[in-house]
Amino acid sequence: MSTTESTPAKIKAKLVPIYIMGKRYEVPESLTIMKAMEHAGYKFIRGCGCRGGICGACGTVYRLPGDYHIRVGLACQTVVQENMYLTQIPFFPANRAVYEMEEVAPEVSYVQKNYPELFRCVACNACTKVCPMDVPVLDYISAIKQGDFKKATELSFDCIQCGLCATRCMGEMAQYHIAQMVRRIYGMKMAPYPEHCKEMVEGIKGGKYDGFLAELKSASVDELKKLYTEREQESHMADEKWEPQEKQYL
Ligand code: SF4
Ligand code: SF4
Ligand code: FES
Repeated sequence: MSTTESTPAKIKAKLVPIYIMGKRYEVPESLTIMKAMEHAGYKFIRGCGCRGGICGACGTVYRLPGDYHIRVGLACQTVVQENMYLTQIPFFPANRAVYEMEEVAPEVSYVQKNYPELFRCVACNACTKVCPMDVPVLDYISAIKQGDFKKATELSFDCIQCGLCATRCMGEMAQYHIAQMVRRIYGMKMAPYPEHCKEMVEGIKGGKYDGFLAELKSASVDELKKLYTEREQESHMADEKWEPQEKQYL
């Protein structure tokens, strides 16, 4: 029997050397930092979530030969480069204010009280350049300083809280925590209350979902899995008018 006919051809990936905390490994050149580290035998038990560039858990630092800069990126999105040097460093200190939502005020002075570093921004725009989500970080910081919380909310909406912007900030601020506070303030104290939300809350209070919840609670694990996998899902291509066929619980 000819093995050449029955065995699928093996594609040999080109290997490139990388260094992980000083030790040399050879890894396929197409791997991301995250996959390269796993290829080298490391196991992520922190700093890894969605693996798709959305959860913001895997912000990491690296250096390249002959390059003075410490570079940053998402480990699940950044492809390795020859002789890339990876290491672990302690996290960047990022002030995250503690506050009660009932007590927040929709004023710049309130944000400034919790984040005085806000006004240390020198408009260098380094934060915007490093953002993997193309969020205009400088612009939302400027909008916050001007008291335009609506604009800041809209501009920062795609932020995944990865923290890479803070690694570049000479004002030493955690821009993403500041924007998160502002989005919360805007949502709670400034944006018009959405009518559909009011209806949902009334439905919950009126027991509209009690029967369905009781059904779920009494279902077996297999029944729950079946319900989950067979649920009606919105397609990625759906437009904003999409509605499910089953409208009983809308
Ligand atoms: S704004 Fe900052 S924290 Fe948010 S996605 Fe961009 S770099 Fe990450
Ligand atoms: S990196 Fe910091 S100082 Fe520079 S524009 Fe962004 S927020 Fe301002
Ligand atoms: S693991 Fe979620 S963004 Fe990288």
